[in-house]
Amino acid sequence: MLPNIPEIKHPERYADFDLPREKLEYALAEAVKKIDFALPTFTDKFPEHSSVNNVYAAVNNDRGWNTGFWTGILWHAYEMTGDEKYKKVALGQVPSYLKRIVEKLGVDHHDMGFVFIPSCVAAWKLCGDEDAKRAAILAADNLITRYNEKAGFIQAWGKVGAEDNFRLIVDCLLNIPLLYWASEVTGDEKYEKIAYTHFNTTVDLVCREDASTYHTYFFDTKTYKPLRGATHQGAFDNSAWARGQAWGSYGPMLTYIYKKNEKAMHIFKATTNYFLNYLPEDYIAFWDLCFTDGDDEPRDSSSNAIVLCAMLEGIKHMDECDPLKKIYINATKIIMNSLIDNYLTKDVPEANGLLLHATYGKPQKNGVDEMNIWGDYFYMEALHRMLDPDWKLYW
Ligand code: GLY
Repeated sequence: MLPNIPEIKHPERYADFDLPREKLEYALAEAVKKIDFALPTFTDKFPEHSSVNNVYAAVNNDRGWNTGFWTGILWHAYEMTGDEKYKKVALGQVPSYLKRIVEKLGVDHHDMGFVFIPSCVAAWKLCGDEDAKRAAILAADNLITRYNEKAGFIQAWGKVGAEDNFRLIVDCLLNIPLLYWASEVTGDEKYEKIAYTHFNTTVDLVCREDASTYHTYFFDTKTYKPLRGATHQGAFDNSAWARGQAWGSYGPMLTYIYKKNEKAMHIFKATTNYFLNYLPEDYIAFWDLCFTDGDDEPRDSSSNAIVLCAMLEGIKHMDECDPLKKIYINATKIIMNSLIDNYLTKDVPEANGLLLHATYGKPQKNGVDEMNIWGDYFYMEALHRMLDPDWKLYW
């Protein structure tokens, strides 16, 4: 059953708002200063997933799910400024992605889309780089090895089929665009079929009736039937982890782009409205949406950056007469304004990233109230989308 699309509880919070273009240009100029500051460190190396005291350490492209975001930031900087130096560094990083997938360095997980879309699919779309295309197709091949046909989902983590990890997670909705893309460029439908089955299995299970989302959903390894929702990075199994809700907003919108299916549009509106309804006074989410003003908890600004991108894409596809369209247009301006006013690193000289007050995993005590590299990436993508609504997606 599809979730309900919740009413916007306080539409007056999303009234008309003026965000002048000059303010977006100022935000871009500030971002570019920080990117230039970080560039010498992160030419051959990559930022760690989260900062420590607002400084990213440098790591090799052989681990985790995040390296692609830095290369993606460089592509956005190149497209928005036209400065070839960003393109040169981004293209120079492509061999590290090819090596990573050929030699299978830190790719035994589902996050092939996060790693290879903003880096290699972007390099192929912008520059026609053949190595980048090859790396991304190999990454798609790697991703589908985690698909279980009987259960109809791509397993996120751990050994394929292992009981303790036999589950899907909402985040993977951002990995499956790699499969839609792979079908388009190879002409082989198998990638797209797996992606769409995974999409349906995921949204049918993770979206609760009130449009909040489970982070993960376990399956039985013998019967392949769904068992139960559970969290990994959220506060409670039944709460809405802010970033999971954000993946549940942007993910369906990305499937909508490829499939033009009303179900994806419906889920996008439902999960987005839920997110907007649980934002505190300054519009920037706490790390779990069960917390609000007055709670002594950190925020996750990265989840706002993700939902900004979702809404900026969504409004391109919504009917003029849909009352939510106006709400989302206003919400994008209000949230971006709040990020620019209070979450930039411009007054933190040592910071080598863009967006303060994000949280990776509070239960794991990982990157709590720090910068994280996907927050920076989606903030850049959102800025790019606002400055150039005709931006052609990497996803
Ligand atoms: N995809 C992992 C996370 O959002 O933390």
